Amino acid sequence: MKCAVVYYSKTGVTKRIADKIQAKFAADVYLVEPEKAYGGFFSAVARVVGEKISRKGAALKTTVSDFAPYDIVFIGFPVWAGTVPDFLQEYIRKADLAGKRVIPFATASATGKESSLKTLNALLPESTITDYFFTSRRQPADVAAWLDGIN
Ligand SMILES: Cc1cc2nc3c(=O)[nH]c(=O)nc-3n(C[C@H](O)[C@H](O)[C@H](O)COP(=O)(O)O)c2cc1C
Repeated sequence: MKCAVVYYSKTGVTKRIADKIQAKFAADVYLVEPEKAYGGFFSAVARVVGEKISRKGAALKTTVSDFAPYDIVFIGFPVWAGTVPDFLQEYIRKADLAGKRVIPFATASATGKESSLKTLNALLPESTITDYFFTSRRQPADVAAWLDGIN
């Protein structure tokens, strides 16, 4: 099983899970970043709210990779304003993931589990999404058990 991990992480919570996936599946890792980095929590929230209102998401810095060699593509992100960060949505839209098995993993303070999955389903109509993992500070989920269940 050749695996890739595509992820973004501002404060390291999502990265810790990406690192575990990398270690377990010897996955190739692709970090997705916005053109202009987000600052601390409050300025990031203010910026994201502004971007939602103007309907202009952050520009994407990362070039989209070729996922043809991979059997599984993990996609990880922090929930922002209830869903997948806009620039990562843009990356997913540009990536050719048709026919691929995609395993999403999301981290949050509390909310956004179902709405993030809904966004991903809309972005990836030709992929097979399995084993969606959501963990939050309010209700932490077991990463090791999730990874053990993937086959
Ligand atoms: C701009 C912004 C928006 C956020 N929106 C939400 C949200 O809608 N729901 C939620 O539960 N947490 C929200 N959070 C909290 C993050 O999802 C959470 O802290 C996440 O685990 C951080 O992951 P990271 O360290 O990989 O960046 C938000 C954080 C930021 C900075």
